[in-house]
Amino acid sequence: MRKQMVTAVIAAVLITSLGAEENKAEIQKGIKMPYMAFPMKQGKGMYSTKGKCNMCHSWGYVLNQGPQSKAFWRKKVIKMIDVFQAPIKNEDIDEVVEYLYKNYGNGKEN
Ligand code: HEC
Repeated sequence: MRKQMVTAVIAAVLITSLGAEENKAEIQKGIKMPYMAFPMKQGKGMYSTKGKCNMCHSWGYVLNQGPQSKAFWRKKVIKMIDVFQAPIKNEDIDEVVEYLYKNYGNGKEN
């Protein structure tokens, strides 16, 4: 009787830990995917922009816009701050807009 209980407890612990390992693998997969699918162009301000723009949605939202003017990107960044409360400081807006325009711009200021 005692031996059976010990076996049951060991089995339960094994099953639980196996489940946890699987969950961990699933979570890691989930975190990696969006960033692998939409790589960002290397350039000045890339890491700063990555930290500020990828916390709510993938980079795909940005790429979907296609090449745009500087004014367009500035408006989008300000929309993210005003409408969605993106935690981007006023003094950091220029750097993000420059990165967006340099790498995803259409050559027009306005
Ligand atoms: C606080 C969360 C948050 C942050 C940070 C954020 N966004 Fe967004 N963004 C959103 C939400 C929410 C949407 C709308 C999603 C939807 O409509 O499904 C969105 C949508 C967009 C779109 C799609 C077009 C549109 O006008 O809705 C673009 C482009 C975009 N974001 C760019 C950016 C850029 C560039 C940054 C970094 C400067 C950024 N986002 C940071 C929340 C955020």
